[in-house]
Amino acid sequence: MTVIVNPPSLLHLVSTILLLSSLTLTLAQTTGFSVELIPRDSPKSPFYNPMETTSDCVTNALRRSFSSVGRFKSSFVLTEWAQSDITVGSGEYLMNISIGTPAFDTVAIVDTASDLIWTKCKPCSYNNSCQYSINYPDDSYSNGDLAFDTITLATTTSPTVSVLEIVIGCGHNNGGPSKERNSGVIGLGGGELSLISQIGSPIAGKFSYCLLPTSEKNESSKLNFGSNAIVSGDGVVSTPLVKLSSPTFYFLNLKAISVGNKRINYTDVSLGKPGEGNIIIDLGTTLILFPSGIYWELESAVATQINATRVQGPEGLSLCYDAKTEFVIPNITMHFTGADVKLQRLNTFFTVLDTVTCFAFGSFRQHSVYGNLAQINFLIGYDIEKKTVSFKPTDCSKN
Ligand SMILES: *[C@@H]1O[C@H](CO)[C@@H](O)[C@H](O)[C@H]1NC(C)=O
Ligand SMILES: *[C@@H]1O[C@H](CO)[C@@H](O)[C@H](O)[C@H]1NC(C)=O
Ligand SMILES: *[C@@H]1O[C@H](CO)[C@@H](O)[C@H](O)[C@H]1NC(C)=O
Ligand SMILES: *[C@@H]1O[C@H](CO)[C@@H](O)[C@H](O)[C@H]1NC(C)=O
Ligand SMILES: *[C@@H]1O[C@H](CO)[C@@H](O)[C@H](O)[C@H]1NC(C)=O
Ligand SMILES: *[C@@H]1O[C@H](CO)[C@@H](O)[C@H](O)[C@H]1NC(C)=O
Repeated sequence: MTVIVNPPSLLHLVSTILLLSSLTLTLAQTTGFSVELIPRDSPKSPFYNPMETTSDCVTNALRRSFSSVGRFKSSFVLTEWAQSDITVGSGEYLMNISIGTPAFDTVAIVDTASDLIWTKCKPCSYNNSCQYSINYPDDSYSNGDLAFDTITLATTTSPTVSVLEIVIGCGHNNGGPSKERNSGVIGLGGGELSLISQIGSPIAGKFSYCLLPTSEKNESSKLNFGSNAIVSGDGVVSTPLVKLSSPTFYFLNLKAISVGNKRINYTDVSLGKPGEGNIIIDLGTTLILFPSGIYWELESAVATQINATRVQGPEGLSLCYDAKTEFVIPNITMHFTGADVKLQRLNTFFTVLDTVTCFAFGSFRQHSVYGNLAQINFLIGYDIEKKTVSFKPTDCSKN
């Protein structure tokens, strides 16, 4: 077992709020470890439904994708961790954690767009002065106390890693329609209370993941921390992480998108000033979402370069084709500042029914989101200290 004792910086912040008198602090050495990242619809997930067909899974993922995008908007007003409304995302990926001593095992949503770590606790034995309340866009909620406790992660490399005395929300009162959201959330956002910030210097603000194609349902992807999360070697491109008003979200700057030889500048007025962050990279959203002006320009560029029969797709997806006959799709490249990311076919088109394949981009009112389909088969590394996100084209089944 590896033990990580959290560093003093965050404790100082939190202890002034929680009025803790003193804690013993030790700074651990730099470390690296990896955990399994379990797709929500895989047989390893507690939410797996063997009766669900692939098209049900897709339809449900889309529904979650669109229902969760509201969180980006509502969360912009949140700057203080102790505020009463913290919104979190949908549960496309999960991880096993143990919380407390003695340990209590649970499965929690991994969310790059929120900070707090919380889980369902009952009965909750903490006597605490600091409460939290989380509300979700789909009316799910959790209320409880914040406490210091240990979390233990089952790793793929060493047996376990324990992180001592970190701030965890203990939910007493959880409810609403989303059963996934009732089990707990591991926030990997950029804010002070996220797992990344709370582990602190031992992992030096680094994490990475490599998402498997959705067809490899039975396999788990990997989530790496610290020295295991360094993305290097051939083909790596990096782009700055841009800090906007909310430290939680990982904003990148997208300059343009190429479709074959056509380049579309990404300069919608609603996207902020040039050079500032204009797209959130997120694990919990399925599609790539753009404001409607850019979306339609992109869709039309793609459609004119495809020679196949258009068919009706599910709600929310407007560009779908009959997949009974193979067709060629144009190459699509995302031009981030300093990083051209060339997408593969499985990043840009996905099968929603045996005979229907649809464009993996969608239109959304306000914010742009780089969702998880676009991230499949890339090793993606976040380095909060260097303020970069790196992409390396990778066969994630071999990683
Ligand atoms: C996660 O936990 C469940 C039950 O608690 C267990 O069956 C499963 O093997 C665990 N998965 C991993 C990757 O540790
Ligand atoms: C916590 O509260 C319980 C009753 O609610 C009490 O019996 C116990 O002594 C308290 N523990 C501490 C450490 O204050
Ligand atoms: C996945 O696992 C299920 C049982 O858990 C099995 O029936 C199915 O064939 C497996 N699929 C693949 C692609 O390995
Ligand atoms: C797109 O941006 C490039 C460089 O910023 C510029 O040279 C070009 O004129 C722009 N194209 C359009 C259609 O606005
Ligand atoms: C489009 O596909 C059809 C049938 O496969 C073919 O006959 C036609 O020549 C193609 N058109 C172009 C412009 O490639
Ligand atoms: C996409 O790019 C690859 C290599 O750069 C090229 O071989 C292929 O023909 C391109 N596809 C299309 C549809 O242009």
